Amino acid sequence: MTDEPRLAAVTGWPIAHSRSPLVHGHWLRRYRIRGHYVPIALAPEAFVEGLLAMPKLGFRGTNVTIPHKEAALALATEVTEEARAIGAANTITFREDGTIHADNTDGYGFLANLRDAAPAWDAAAGPALVLGAGGASRAIVHALQSAGAPEVWIANRTAARAEAVAEHFGARIRVLDWETAEAAAADAATIVNTTSLGMKPGEPMPVALDRLSAGALVTDVVYGAEPTAFVAEARRRGLMAVDGLGMLLHQAVPGFERWFGVRPEVDAELRAAALA
Ligand code: ATR
Repeated sequence: MTDEPRLAAVTGWPIAHSRSPLVHGHWLRRYRIRGHYVPIALAPEAFVEGLLAMPKLGFRGTNVTIPHKEAALALATEVTEEARAIGAANTITFREDGTIHADNTDGYGFLANLRDAAPAWDAAAGPALVLGAGGASRAIVHALQSAGAPEVWIANRTAARAEAVAEHFGARIRVLDWETAEAAAADAATIVNTTSLGMKPGEPMPVALDRLSAGALVTDVVYGAEPTAFVAEARRRGLMAVDGLGMLLHQAVPGFERWFGVRPEVDAELRAAALA
């Protein structure tokens, strides 16, 4: 049994665009681990059957992405505090005793990326402004709250989605109108773009950065070979600015360690591999 190559996966629908196989594949080669990390496309109606079959096929675990993160949480028999609080799972581990362990490492990845790239940043320094109210926003709101942000302000084009996030996380959250977010940014210590703005060339920035205070940190979940206009502009202005690729890389660390037995490094080589 123990001689078998170790197996892990990422499952979503669709899954072809996922960079996770590049990330884990790089680490498997770097640490000379006999294992495979494969993308598995599972349609929503096939998800439960597919996930439950994975341990029988020899998989030690799987990352889970859109649209399966809530369904994965519901199937788990053991759930971390993070996954429960966020309401979604992205890292599933099949234990030898048959338990299915669910974690959500998106918030961990967000914080680890900031601590790595902007060590001077302190969540407790002031309010955090989160732009957007999708799945990434929830994980980031929870991370900012647990890192000690005194207040989280959330603004979204569709106000009802921001209200839903605020309701989910309760205390120390304020919903701002999308139109007033730009003015509010001046009083925020941390500004996070979780909207998809910046993915396509020519899209406007989520908010202008001309009123930000000098100590503010700007970060973006959108990533690519070059920093987004939002992050590039923040850098030009001398602000602390962190691009989103590091969040993707850091969120992969806990799963790799659980499935393959080595705590992997996030470094420049990994960044290059993920963008290949
Ligand atoms: P994810 O789960 O990855 O965060 P999502 O649920 O598709 O992704 O959310 C995308 C976010 O980008 C949403 O907050 C969306 O705003 P709406 O809720 O109003 O749709 C935001 N977004 C996308 N395009 C936008 C645009 N042109 N202007 C402002 N916000 C935009």
